[in-house]
Amino acid sequence: MARKGFELIPSARRLITSLRDMGYDFAAAVADVVDNSIEAKASRIAVDVHFDGDDSSVRIADNGVGMTPAQIREALRYGAERDYDTTEALGKFGLGLKTASMSQCQRLTVASRSSTERADIYAHAWDLDHVVETDRWEIIEVPRNEQPEVLRKPLLEGTGTVVLWQRLDRILGYKHPYGQMAKKRLSVMCRELEVHLGMVFHRYMTGEGVTRKVRLTLNGNAIKPWDPFARGEPATQSLEKVTLQYDHEATAGEIVIQPFVLPHQDDFSSPQARDEAAGPDKWNKQQGFYIYRANRMIQSGGWCNLRTLDEHTKLARVAISFRPALDEAFRINVAKMKVQLPQQLKEQFEKAIGPLIKISQSTYRRAARSAPHAVPPAPRPPAPSPVPIPLAHQDQTLRSDVVMASASRAGYVADSAGPRTASRLWTMEELRASAEAIATTEELPIISAVFKRLARRLDDE
Ligand SMILES: Nc1ncnc2c1ncn2[C@@H]1O[C@H](COP(=O)(O)OP(=O)(O)OP(=O)(O)O)[C@@H](O)[C@H]1O
Ligand SMILES: [Mg+2]
Repeated sequence: MARKGFELIPSARRLITSLRDMGYDFAAAVADVVDNSIEAKASRIAVDVHFDGDDSSVRIADNGVGMTPAQIREALRYGAERDYDTTEALGKFGLGLKTASMSQCQRLTVASRSSTERADIYAHAWDLDHVVETDRWEIIEVPRNEQPEVLRKPLLEGTGTVVLWQRLDRILGYKHPYGQMAKKRLSVMCRELEVHLGMVFHRYMTGEGVTRKVRLTLNGNAIKPWDPFARGEPATQSLEKVTLQYDHEATAGEIVIQPFVLPHQDDFSSPQARDEAAGPDKWNKQQGFYIYRANRMIQSGGWCNLRTLDEHTKLARVAISFRPALDEAFRINVAKMKVQLPQQLKEQFEKAIGPLIKISQSTYRRAARSAPHAVPPAPRPPAPSPVPIPLAHQDQTLRSDVVMASASRAGYVADSAGPRTASRLWTMEELRASAEAIATTEELPIISAVFKRLARRLDDE
């Protein structure tokens, strides 16, 4: 016999208020809305932050495909229904637009135009006061004659969508946000937002691995993409890519790991390039994994509990890319701010980054050994003439890939005329540095003794 069911509709007042605290910060919230614009095939996304006390607003406007009135209403539903493409969908939960927006403001309006021919613009809004008052899951229609210019203007030229945040209680943080403090706070947040968007969407902005490039602006100024791996710098070392296969229960797919060692500070092409490469949280905190889901960055830096942050490995950064089919494995959260590495692959990740750690340490130690000087550095003296190493030693010492890679890269990349090969002669200093880079604390005195002996022997010969 069928049991009697009781439908329990959540209290709108309680739930919408509680969902404001899902953990978004301002920049992450804007990024979640930008995700939707990218998915809507936008090529231009304009973020405008306007300070005017109580009337301050944030607007995210795109030139994507737009939505019909029914689609706008569905988009505004908590738990919106949609089919997701598991290879490149940025959305997943049907929540982001609402939870991200309402975490920052008390009124969210979505206006959209889906026809290229007709300039019909439709708009609906979630208003927290209305929900609190009625305790209903009810949005409000914004008829044409009540649509302010700020909503309509970006849609006059063609299709697209405008998301408007008003009553920015969480952003401004002041009951009466007229003072200089509120204004200053907003301008600091704008700076952080610019950096965040340039980082999170850098692949979309440069067209790397994606079908459509996106141009992002903040208050009319183009946002610059930030490449965490400083690949434009000649001294950046790109290590071999590793592809891991994840296959567990119903979830399967590839994870691509691409490690980089950034140049040590003296090897950057300019002081500005070095400072830019540091990243928003600076060198130490920016080491580690940069995790991309469908080419959108979810995590920037940190080692996901595989290692701790360490001054000696601060030049090591790793791109880890996966497709949404692996969401389960990475346990992505709604705010798209956090993931976990699949536990089953922990050892493989450790193995994949082993050479990177050693090379980054050796690159760092070379920096530590050279006398500190301001960037740009004085031209480095030419490399000492290579000391011929007896063949027996080459065989024993140089056959390790790690030593070869670290020494040849950490050696004189910046001033080398061309790529160095493993077969070249090494200087004693290079060899010693490479050995020290991978030695344990106990082995360091032994290496020192062996090299002293070797130097004496070569002198004798
Ligand atoms: N700028 C936009 N242009 C066109 N459609 C949009 C836009 N923003 C949202 N939508 C539609 O509204 C739906 C709901 O968006 P929302 O961000 O709430 O959820 P999602 O993107 O599906 O998943 P997630 O919660 O992971 O972000 C989207 O799936 C999309 O269909
Ligand atoms: Mg979304």
